Amino acid sequence: MPDTSLRLGVNIDHVATVRNARGGAYPDPIRAAKLAEEAGADGITAHLREDRRHITDPDIEGLMAALTVPLNFEMAATEEMQKIALRHKPHAVCIVPEKREERTTEGGLEVAREENRLAHFIAPLRDAGCRVSIFIAADRKQIEAAHRIGAEVIELHTGAYCDAHAEGHLEQRDRELESLREMSVFAHSLGLEVHAGHGLTYDTVQPIAAFPEVRELNIGHFLIGEAIFRGLTPAVQEMRRLMDEARA
Ligand code: PXP
Repeated sequence: MPDTSLRLGVNIDHVATVRNARGGAYPDPIRAAKLAEEAGADGITAHLREDRRHITDPDIEGLMAALTVPLNFEMAATEEMQKIALRHKPHAVCIVPEKREERTTEGGLEVAREENRLAHFIAPLRDAGCRVSIFIAADRKQIEAAHRIGAEVIELHTGAYCDAHAEGHLEQRDRELESLREMSVFAHSLGLEVHAGHGLTYDTVQPIAAFPEVRELNIGHFLIGEAIFRGLTPAVQEMRRLMDEARA
């Protein structure tokens, strides 16, 4: 039987955001990652941004040394980040677009426009044994381009779906959900592994978790926020429970 389970990747960037607000060592994102691991996370995700606004280079080193679950290293397609990834060789590398002025990763990567450069960019990462994932919008053109450049995985950007839900634009939310569903099926039919993430909460996770083609969800901001109220372990456990319920 093929494995059709759904993995939860917990993104711990915003533990580092809180730490960096005071410039010290507390709270430690590695401690949070270990707790998330014990609470049922199948992987840990961390985004080393060009401006190091949350995760830092020593955090990546610490995560590589401390984790027993795979690290999904998110990064922009720059030479500096490629060198860092090749030094650490994390289990997975997720290529994301990055703008200095943005508050978070606002859209998916424009793979179609940069196909040649990205194909050359990801080749050494693949050769080093990293699973390369490309963070893109639910757009057929981008999925086809991700497939052509040799990515093994795409991560579909769920931000527009989650925003529409939060703003009460329910028809738009349902349209976004439908296009995520169709593009999951399409990407899967090309042989790509499908992941999804961005902005997911307890209210929005289940319709996405129910797509059988989706194999991994990466969730950060909401879980770290929820940890303030119920603690990180129960926050992760509840997400896991909702995912399993939707999958069943
Ligand atoms: N997936 C990717 C590729 C991301 O860039 C992010 C945000 O860093 C996430 C998932 C997690 O998004 P959120 O923090 O909104 O859950």
